[in-house]
Amino acid sequence: MLRDHALSPFDVPVYAPGLLPAARKAEVREDVKRLLVERDAVLVAHYYVDGDIQDLADETGGCVADSLEMARFGRDHPASTLVVAGVRFMGETAKILSPEKRVLMPTLRAECSLDLGCPPDEFQAFCEDNPERTVVVYANTSVAVKALADWVVTSSVGLRIVEHLAAKGEKILWAPDKHLGAFIRAKTGADMLLWNGACVVHEEFKHQALLDMRKVYPDAGVLVHPESPAAVIDIADQVGSTSQIIRAARELPHEVFIVATDRGIFHKLRKAAPEKRFIEAPTAGDGATCRSCAHCPWMAMNELEALAETLRTGGNEIRVPEETGAKAMVPLQRMLAFQG
Ligand code: 13P
Ligand code: SF4
Repeated sequence: MLRDHALSPFDVPVYAPGLLPAARKAEVREDVKRLLVERDAVLVAHYYVDGDIQDLADETGGCVADSLEMARFGRDHPASTLVVAGVRFMGETAKILSPEKRVLMPTLRAECSLDLGCPPDEFQAFCEDNPERTVVVYANTSVAVKALADWVVTSSVGLRIVEHLAAKGEKILWAPDKHLGAFIRAKTGADMLLWNGACVVHEEFKHQALLDMRKVYPDAGVLVHPESPAAVIDIADQVGSTSQIIRAARELPHEVFIVATDRGIFHKLRKAAPEKRFIEAPTAGDGATCRSCAHCPWMAMNELEALAETLRTGGNEIRVPEETGAKAMVPLQRMLAFQG
């Protein structure tokens, strides 16, 4: 059974970051470096954000990572302030895991369609309708939804955790990403009831257009994030989280890769395997003049100047209600402690 909870296209912002002149960019980069030290702060960035922000995280002892490693790094780092460049659930996860730290973000407007498509009250009703099931939610959810879960997972550990639960005979209630849920269900054979959410970026990858592209690049490997539709996943040489995609690009023998995930990842892919060529998987079907627009509009809101401003003013602080945060910490810690 799929719960019907599609997001309206009107809920998705049209967002294009402004381009900074080189001299201004250099100045802002220096400001950020100085402010990170002055504020006892560390920068924790996702692979989909602006390349300059990723570089700053690398250069200043922060991290650029997938959502699992961002959570772990933020929890374990001694800095008193975490600056999270990504979307809101990533900042909230950092705060849940480290309630004593100050968590700042370049913007508090950076949502996620999966989070928006899973309102806590409706999700609670779904859980109450299925009390016999173990509740497993994707990290791309609100604090209130996490607080209702037995487990939180990310795409890098979801499959192994569900495999572990299914081996114990547990039936699972899964939310919110239906594609990731269906992928895990097909791989593990687990009994999973799925919420009907999707990522507005990954849902756009087109199966037929990808097959056509592969005819043009017959030797290319295909790397796919599991938030993509099943027909796209079926073509993949490697399916995995953003970190797993980067590792596969390094380790697989192909010289060319077609990559079905947000194009922000190309910055790290080119650094990880500079001798290889990376091509964006198509999001447009027949007749379109543009091939791909795979960029999360909310990740794009993380702009360099906004990052400096946040550090300067201490604005855009993430706050999490204490009681809900404490409940959400339990399934998050369970994920981080999982050794599967
Ligand atoms: P990762 O955990 O693979 O980085 O995915 C996060 C995400 O939001 C993908 O769209
Ligand atoms: Fe959410 Fe999709 Fe953006 Fe990832 S790419 S943050 S899943 S909307």
